[in-house]
Amino acid sequence: MKEQIDKNNLPAHISIIMDGNGRWAKRFMMKRSAGHRAGATALRRLTERMNADGFKMLTVYAFSTENWKRDDEEVSYLMGLMHEYIQQYINDAKKNNVKMTVIGDMSRLEPSLRVKIAQLREMTADNDGLHLCIALNYGGRDEILRAVNKAIAGEHSSPLQETDFAKYLDTVGTPDPDLIIRTSGEMRLSNFLLWQAAYSEFIAMDVLWPDFKIEHLYKAVAQYQSRERRFGGR
Ligand code: IPE
Ligand code: IPE
Ligand code: MG
Repeated sequence: MKEQIDKNNLPAHISIIMDGNGRWAKRFMMKRSAGHRAGATALRRLTERMNADGFKMLTVYAFSTENWKRDDEEVSYLMGLMHEYIQQYINDAKKNNVKMTVIGDMSRLEPSLRVKIAQLREMTADNDGLHLCIALNYGGRDEILRAVNKAIAGEHSSPLQETDFAKYLDTVGTPDPDLIIRTSGEMRLSNFLLWQAAYSEFIAMDVLWPDFKIEHLYKAVAQYQSRERRFGGR
């Protein structure tokens, strides 16, 4: 059952660190790849429901700049899954109304995947349903460093203000996340949205990502709505 939430006070931007695919697979004595596949299905199901329920923006952490440390088999499975996932969204681009973007360092991705990402962006740009942003080969430090280098190379009035600097980040034009959820019970950011998370509410949930359902999201939103955000004021 879905928890009661105030529909007039939904977080404008929710982010999820989708963690626990490997542990989920282990529970069923399956390979880690099966956990990742189940995780992709969980994401698709969740976005459909969030779109139907009027949520505006969701950013998900799909692959970090540190995840290349995993063995080749797992990394190539994840990249293949990403191809498949994006292709599905390209096929449904016009009918499901979800707008899709990707953040992270695209330069390390295979050219064919980069082409698909560009196509996806373009085909969904005018959709006005849920904005789903996928963090792929994303690292908060890497993003900040790339932004600094762009700022150094570009022209801007100095000294640079926070709002000027934010324009160099991958997340340009989008609000900071109000709520960051991490599944699998871990309580760390693992290099996710370091700049943008300054005043995000953080909720760690004891559910492995492939088991995450809209009900879990509602529970997190209810908890978020019960908190008082002060932003350093009183
Ligand atoms: C999250 O699940 C997916 C990625 C990081 C790509 P994990 O693969 O980290 O699963 P656990 O943490 O090992 O259970
Ligand atoms: C964070 O999960 C990255 C993603 C969910 C994509 P990890 O499983 O890579 O993080 P650590 O290693 O537990 O910090
Ligand atoms: Mg993990």
